[in-house]
Amino acid sequence: MRRISFGGFLVAGTHFKHGAAEYIQRLGNMTTDETGDLRSAGVVQVLDVGCGVASFSAYLLALDIQTMSFAPKDGHENQIQFALERGIGAMISAIATKQLPYPTSSFEMVHCSRCRVDWHGNDGVLLKEVNRLLRSNGYFIYSGPPAYRKDKEYPLIWDKLVNLTTAMCWKLISRKVQTAVWIKEENESCLLQNAEQKLLKICEVVDDSKTSWNVPLRNCVQVRSAAADSLKLPPRPERLSVFSESLSKLDISQEEFTSDTLFWQDQIRRYWRLMHINETEIRNIIDLNAFCGGFSVALNNFPVWVMNIVPASMKNTLSAIYDRGLIGVFHDWCEPFSSYPRSYDLLHANHLFSHYRRRGPGCLLEDIMLEMDRLTRPQGFIIIRDDESIVSRIQQLAPKFLWEVKSHLLENKEKKMETVLICRKKFWAIV
Ligand SMILES: C[S@@+](CC[C@H](N)C(=O)[O-])C[C@H]1O[C@@H](n2cnc3c(N)ncnc32)[C@H](O)[C@@H]1O
Repeated sequence: MRRISFGGFLVAGTHFKHGAAEYIQRLGNMTTDETGDLRSAGVVQVLDVGCGVASFSAYLLALDIQTMSFAPKDGHENQIQFALERGIGAMISAIATKQLPYPTSSFEMVHCSRCRVDWHGNDGVLLKEVNRLLRSNGYFIYSGPPAYRKDKEYPLIWDKLVNLTTAMCWKLISRKVQTAVWIKEENESCLLQNAEQKLLKICEVVDDSKTSWNVPLRNCVQVRSAAADSLKLPPRPERLSVFSESLSKLDISQEEFTSDTLFWQDQIRRYWRLMHINETEIRNIIDLNAFCGGFSVALNNFPVWVMNIVPASMKNTLSAIYDRGLIGVFHDWCEPFSSYPRSYDLLHANHLFSHYRRRGPGCLLEDIMLEMDRLTRPQGFIIIRDDESIVSRIQQLAPKFLWEVKSHLLENKEKKMETVLICRKKFWAIV
């Protein structure tokens, strides 16, 4: 079932006076000098900060633009739950004191419409985080009172924003109605000059293969070498096949990447046959150990969306997932995932438990199962494949979680037979 159009107030947002579609078209005009839409402006992946019920993301889907939307649980109550129930990818989070759990250089656009974030505060440290997340020539879209109001303290805030963004060498390319648009041009000499004049600090070079997990914000800007940005990514769907340079740095070869892609195409056909459901019964999917996103790519033509998770203690393959035009997040499965209970129709855990085998109290196999159970909708599916000893332990425990469990034998990547559990969370009530 397609769940996007709930109708009524949910299709709009607090900022979209004439609806999200009109607003998105306006952004397209602003980013293309009135000649096109966001897609022709090169936007493929968007981060929506303070997304509300994520209408922005829902309406970007028509342009095949993928959005990672987030907002905290604050006075706006259960906005993320609404988004997930509409079948739109979103998670609970806030931009605050730590780096967001997304890799560097992952989005062509970061968006904030009335997102209530004080971008001008603390020396613009949050704008520097936006700078980290934006790809070269990516846009920062800001729709909020300082962009258009001339009363109260708004002009002062606007001046601060202009000073901070100019110091980072962003260019203000349009300001109209209630929105301002900056472009992050990669301009090494401008950054070095501004650093010399003490307008900003240049970050020490960090290893991009490290995951952004529990990393404090950095009040500095990274100078990216021309070589780092040499990869010009194609639009979707071609982007789905991109073999990211970041994979070579992790010693993952093009051959391994291609065989992973083919493997998951075959597995998805088998999974759907084994689950005995039609395509439209599943919408929200989470891949708990996504590697380089092959599982998600294989689902591209299904009416679903996939939250790709790369465990924070693994190698950073999430950059490669973003380079394929998909969305995802780093996470430590010894902690709760930042989402509502019963938010996902299908959970996929490929060799996840073996990775956490030695983590000990608080992160036992049962703890991870419990968190998976929390995330699964009644009647939802949980697919698990792992080492034989782990799978048989899960098979024993599954009925205690009120999961129906069926065991199947499927080929693994090495063409050896492997046990795959297809579990289904029962619809139960305490009477
Ligand atoms: C007025 S609503 C706007 C929602 C949506 N952007 C729209 O235009 O309809 C403000 C949003 O900002 C979110 N928000 C507030 N502080 C935030 C923060 N530090 N990080 C991320 N989102 C935040 C709120 O939870 C809420 O989703």
